[in-house]
Amino acid sequence: MLEVQAPFSADRKEFEAILKFGQNPRLAQIILDGNLIIRYTSPAALSLFTDYYRIQSKPFFNVFRQPLGTAELRILIMSLKSPERGFSWSGTLVHKNPNMRTLLTRTVINPFFAANRSILGYLVHFEDVTDKYNTRLRTTFSSILEAAKLKDNDTGKHNERVSYYSKRIAEYLHGKQLYPQIDPDFIDNIEFLSMMHDVGKIGTPDYILQKPGKLTELEWDIMREHTINGTFILSSYPNPMAKEIALSHHEWWNGGGYPFRLEGDMIPLSARIVTVADVYDALRMKRTYKLEYTHEEAIDRILAASGTQFDPSIVRVLSEIHESFNEIWNSFRDSDASEPYNADIPLDYDV
Ligand SMILES: [Fe+2]
Ligand SMILES: [Fe+2]
Repeated sequence: MLEVQAPFSADRKEFEAILKFGQNPRLAQIILDGNLIIRYTSPAALSLFTDYYRIQSKPFFNVFRQPLGTAELRILIMSLKSPERGFSWSGTLVHKNPNMRTLLTRTVINPFFAANRSILGYLVHFEDVTDKYNTRLRTTFSSILEAAKLKDNDTGKHNERVSYYSKRIAEYLHGKQLYPQIDPDFIDNIEFLSMMHDVGKIGTPDYILQKPGKLTELEWDIMREHTINGTFILSSYPNPMAKEIALSHHEWWNGGGYPFRLEGDMIPLSARIVTVADVYDALRMKRTYKLEYTHEEAIDRILAASGTQFDPSIVRVLSEIHESFNEIWNSFRDSDASEPYNADIPLDYDV
């Protein structure tokens, strides 16, 4: 049963007839009167926006001004007044709440006409396209990552494990509310983007990636360029975290890393998290030139490098949640115990 939340100034009977035949309460819809006040909210729309806004009986623009932004708002108002545009508008709205993942809705606004052709109100339809958008965006980059992995010998499930560790650290920091920038979007992004940390190796020559011995100083210089190459590859990714991680996951807290010898807080937080995750996993992996470290040995090595290679606050988190790292390692262990040589083990400066 559709509910009209307030009387319309226009012909109510006509309006109710439209409601009766034109609506589907299972769809996320709202109905605006001619003054753009929200008069009807479908149950699906209520649940879609419940964590973002209180929308019943409010002026449309009071609620949706922020996700529209000034420029889009102007276009929307023009469109609703424009016979050429059918008094309609469609676009994507970005809904934010610091405690929730950002919600994206494909939004369509169409007018209702009275018998005398005046505008009686508007039907606004929302489709949640958050997952569709993220999947489409990430599929392209995942393909590039797969191509990079083919070139860089197969590093097994290293990227996936780095993703799990990084997400775990971010979740812990979010729970402690230590960094305001860590919100559900940050966690969602670091989970995906930490996997991309070495995507720039797609531009590193094979003879360096696959060299079965120590690299010369010149070869190291070329290897280090994977951070810059990764940043180029990810330059079109809409979230800056992609570039931050690719560029800065080999920087050191004390300024001893590469490519720019950034120091302390100058290194983006996302990269400081991924560095710890990446090194832990690299230590646990068996290489042709090193044995597999035990969990305790890997943690000890990282603790010893707190404040030199690693951000001490991230190392403190690691010391709190290190058991979950071991669990992730054991759950997503590579079946082949002998990992191929990978010259980009992030221990090139001796942890
Ligand atoms: Fe790297
Ligand atoms: Fe790595």
